[in-house]
Amino acid sequence: MMTICLLGASGSIGTQTIDVMLKNPQDFNLLAFSVGHQTRKIRGILNHFPNVKHICIQDKKKLSYFKKAYPDITFYDGDEGLNQLIVNSNAQMVVNALVGFVGLKPTITALENNKIVALSNKESLVVGGEYINKLLAKGKGKIVPIDSEHVAIAKCLMVDDKDIDKVIITASGGAFRNLTRDQLVNVTPEQALNHPNWKMGKKITIDSATMVNKCFEIIEAHYLFDLPVEKISTILNLNSYVHSLVRYNDGTYRMEVGKPDMRKPIKFALYEGLIDYQTVVSDDLDSIKNTTFAPFDEKRYPVVALARKVIKEKGTLGAVFNAANEEAVYAFLDHKIPFLAIEEIINKCVNEHTNIAHPDYETMRKVDLLTRQKVKQIVEGGNR
Ligand SMILES: NC(=O)c1ccc[n+]([C@@H]2O[C@H](COP(=O)([O-])OP(=O)(O)OC[C@H]3O[C@@H](n4cnc5c(N)ncnc54)[C@H](OP(=O)(O)O)[C@@H]3O)[C@@H](O)[C@H]2O)c1
Repeated sequence: MMTICLLGASGSIGTQTIDVMLKNPQDFNLLAFSVGHQTRKIRGILNHFPNVKHICIQDKKKLSYFKKAYPDITFYDGDEGLNQLIVNSNAQMVVNALVGFVGLKPTITALENNKIVALSNKESLVVGGEYINKLLAKGKGKIVPIDSEHVAIAKCLMVDDKDIDKVIITASGGAFRNLTRDQLVNVTPEQALNHPNWKMGKKITIDSATMVNKCFEIIEAHYLFDLPVEKISTILNLNSYVHSLVRYNDGTYRMEVGKPDMRKPIKFALYEGLIDYQTVVSDDLDSIKNTTFAPFDEKRYPVVALARKVIKEKGTLGAVFNAANEEAVYAFLDHKIPFLAIEEIINKCVNEHTNIAHPDYETMRKVDLLTRQKVKQIVEGGNR
């Protein structure tokens, strides 16, 4: 039985992770979890998982209430509480379903403590991919991806990892896939939150509309599969039925095909890939029924070129790319900036940054903070 510490239990991935664990109670034992502001979800989770002995909440002010209500449980708070939760709960696996930069330190802490990390928090690898891979190379812990695209690639490579021409990450195109760039000028947060295929947290839904999510996935693929940037490409798959593909040197493609449902890749990650699965082989993409492919036009989404720069130049560029995006996304959601300003702000911050090679966590954190301050000034000063 795998013992689990679930970070971000109240979110979209966290809730679906709980669904998978409840369907397979013989295999998983939840020992610890965290929530952010949605503390009302704690009671329901505890009803399902009586073995939980450690909980982290974001807001210190709510601690005394919960400590009184559940005297047998140890409570932690804030960012540091997430690290204490990982160490003190002593679970074998940490599922990181946090959103944003806040997920990076827990990933590092989990690996340093030799945990298996089921990683949904994309920002960990975008900001700290180089640092995390160094820890893995020293034999510290293990990462299994949760993202559907990377699980699909992992499945294909587990069947055949020889003579690879490239991996191809599929993109749904997000909420605005049928609009021209000119039509993107006045789109609203409410329109951007209306994703055609997936029901996800707010930030990743906006990231899908801007294509920053695809940028993140290209960066993740680079670090997870040790692939040079030239061997990672993208394709539009409008109904999200093909989760990603591997193209081999003989011209054949292997892919994972199926209804979009995050519980499948989550289950694959929780079982560390040790479950039955199927991939499909084809030498002609057009022949695959019920799937619609279209070329991914990287000129329409210039932010993808920045992701490739982040991979090539490494250092603190990932921290800048991520922090600029996080702040800009929340400013857009607050109606402070227009949609296309998100991309402009990332571009400005990445291109004006003086890169620092091989950063440690403290350096990444400082660059994250400075970039956020810069974005706030840009947003408040209207100075783009
Ligand atoms: N959703 C998907 O289908 C999907 C698919 C692939 C990858 N991902 C990735 O998975 C991650 C999670 O995405 P999501 O869609 O599940 O996001 P979400 O629904 O917004 O959930 C995020 C979780 O993190 C918690 N959280 C946020 N900020 C926190 C902080 N400062 N301290 C402590 N906890 C905090 C939230 O707590 P509260 O809600 O209680 O405040 C919530 O539990 C992201 O990196 C995303 O890109 C998501």
